[in-house]
Amino acid sequence: MSACGEWWWWCARPGRLPRAAPLSILLATVLTLISLLFLLNAKALNRHSSPRQVLELEDHDLEGAPQHHPDLVTYIRQLHLVSPSLGPYNLHSPNTTDFSQNGQSRQIEEILKGKRGGLFVEAGAYNGEELSNTLYLERQLGWRGLLVEPDPWNFWALRKRGRRAHSIHACLSPYPFPREVTFKQSDTMGHIVNGGDDASRHGIFTRVKCFPLYSLLLALNTTRLDLLSLDVEGAELQVLRTVPWEAVRIEVICVEYRHVPEGKLALSSFLQERGYTLHSTLGDDYIFVRRDLERPSLGIL
Ligand SMILES: *[C@@H]1O[C@H](CO)[C@@H](O)[C@H](O)[C@H]1NC(C)=O
Ligand SMILES: *[C@@H]1O[C@H](CO)[C@@H](O)[C@H](O)[C@H]1NC(C)=O
Repeated sequence: MSACGEWWWWCARPGRLPRAAPLSILLATVLTLISLLFLLNAKALNRHSSPRQVLELEDHDLEGAPQHHPDLVTYIRQLHLVSPSLGPYNLHSPNTTDFSQNGQSRQIEEILKGKRGGLFVEAGAYNGEELSNTLYLERQLGWRGLLVEPDPWNFWALRKRGRRAHSIHACLSPYPFPREVTFKQSDTMGHIVNGGDDASRHGIFTRVKCFPLYSLLLALNTTRLDLLSLDVEGAELQVLRTVPWEAVRIEVICVEYRHVPEGKLALSSFLQERGYTLHSTLGDDYIFVRRDLERPSLGIL
């Protein structure tokens, strides 16, 4: 024993394994495994820190990310934005031309002097056909854009309509950063659940991601819109407050005022302060137009 010193466990009697050998082999194996796991994990973390590898980001990595963050924009573009349909339309009422409830589409066409190839964002888009403010513009005037719909059933129906616009199953964030929220499904009246207002908890609830409007615009490679159609059952003013107005130009805003908790006066004074004028009221919608919109020529008076 003394000849072996502290390495006594290597001192085998001739022809026999040391008594402690199984233990040492086990120890070595465990140590090897631990270092291997550590190495693999370090490699994964390294990959993780590369900004290009959006597919490897966890959803919570983007929680609270500022709305212009390039990773957020790439994440939306690669994982959430659905490309326009290339096939024919598949409408329930193909013979209808204007699907909007109170003639919003024609009003917008008139304000923009029949502009062709315009760009819109419509939220909520419902099923992409009934009550749609944008289907007329898309079908008759060749507009393109983005349909935003948080209700999974409505989004599923929308996808089947064959719209030529991009679409996204999401809500517009009431904050200048992304947020996952509880959403109450309710046909055309679905909305984000705010603490106490659904105290009864009756109904069908789902979780859905909200993205800031500005992040969606960046994902579409634009900061200009001809039309923003906003019908999000109460979050309208909150959504408009997230927009960095110095970086974005929107010609016409069609917004439902009825459910805005801050009141329709707050809504119109907010937009008037940002350079808009209230052009008309159609049903529950206000139509705001930029004051510096190029006026149609009135000829020689
Ligand atoms: C649409 O109109 C065409 C002819 O104009 C008619 O044949 C067709 O049945 C109509 N479709 C619907 C769904 O009403
Ligand atoms: C936006 O630009 C990126 C990079 O050029 C491109 O990959 C993407 O398809 C564009 N997206 C849209 C919606 O045009």
